[in-house]
Amino acid sequence: MPSPPRPQFVEALKDLLERVPTPFYAYDLERVGTQARLYRSAFRGARIFYALKANPRLRLLERLRVRGFGAETVSVGEVLRSYAAGYMPEEVVLNGPVKTPAALAELERSGAPTLVADSAADLERIARILPGAGVLLRLNPDLPVDTHPHLATGRGDSQFGVVPGEWPEVFERGRALGLVMRGLHVHLGSNLNNPADFAARLEVLDRLRERVERLGVLNLGGGFGLGLDPASLAPAMFSQARAYRAELWIEPGRALIADAGVLVARIWAEKRTRRRYLLLDAGMTAFLRPLLYGARHQVLPLYSGGRRAVFDLAGPACESGDVLARDVELPAPRIGDALAFLWAGAYGSAMSFNYLDHPRPGEYAWNGERWEVWRRPESLSALWRDEPDQPEYL
Ligand code: LLP
Repeated sequence: MPSPPRPQFVEALKDLLERVPTPFYAYDLERVGTQARLYRSAFRGARIFYALKANPRLRLLERLRVRGFGAETVSVGEVLRSYAAGYMPEEVVLNGPVKTPAALAELERSGAPTLVADSAADLERIARILPGAGVLLRLNPDLPVDTHPHLATGRGDSQFGVVPGEWPEVFERGRALGLVMRGLHVHLGSNLNNPADFAARLEVLDRLRERVERLGVLNLGGGFGLGLDPASLAPAMFSQARAYRAELWIEPGRALIADAGVLVARIWAEKRTRRRYLLLDAGMTAFLRPLLYGARHQVLPLYSGGRRAVFDLAGPACESGDVLARDVELPAPRIGDALAFLWAGAYGSAMSFNYLDHPRPGEYAWNGERWEVWRRPESLSALWRDEPDQPEYL
């Protein structure tokens, strides 16, 4: 379990509440540093690519870059974002099952990162548009990992990667196409908290080794849940890489930023239907994880209130699924009091969206002395910025 926010950070949050509109995301930079050090020391000698889908703010990327992290991306947008944060193409890996000709042409112009091919079709297209590119081939390990079904990308029935039986032929095909086939990529899924899943992958890789002797790179992806100790997983991952005579790469996202971040919202009504609700100014559009994955995020009241009671916390959308937490015990609040959803630093702001014309929240990071702006609150006029206000035709 991740630890609760530091008291100093909670105090700073109360100060921030006076200065910026809710809802907002806030991050404790000390926690980012702690997690970065934890992964750096557990995986010393490996290359660590931060999966920026977890939280793509430029200020965060820059911080991790100067600490020696590369960037793991899944779209042209993310690649260009990582370049905007100062990364060089050789410090970036591009994953994702679909790489369109337009996307590859953009990379041809802007600089091509290491590409992870997800299918034979992907290899053909990469060879055509980026001849001679450096490529890893993704393996589907066909493992039923212990996580939410949406996050179990390494299951045999998922759309990702090439199955073990076909992998050596497809890899050879890449060579024949003139690509620099650098190695193997195998990501199990996300939010994994059971070390047995990592052990099962090592067995799959052992079996594959009967057919694949040597690799330049073994990229074991991300997925590290907050309940896992990286130092206990690393030795087996390193020895697997050594068996392939490969360099070990990993791609943690959540683990580096989740517990540094909170989502802060204010309470604007207390009421009863058949259940007892607090109505907040943040809901599914600001924070999708509870609705999409049934995720439970602990709630910290930023007020001291009256008698404790059990509430459901609902957002402002006109959908009954817009509930961020149920059965939360809290002190009775006053209207306008605020609370924080914990461990929201990863896949929180990154997955916020504009349904119902809700602007995306501002984001701020506490450096121990001051609040650094990571993203300004989205302006209302930005919501219709790309829409013609006069008829426009093609
Ligand atoms: N590498 C690859 C190829 C991935 O697909 C992912 C995550 C990662 C690395 C980073 O995984 P992490 O270390 O963060 O678990 N929106 C979901 C998480 C989706 C993760 C997708 N891929 C959530 O809110 O839990």
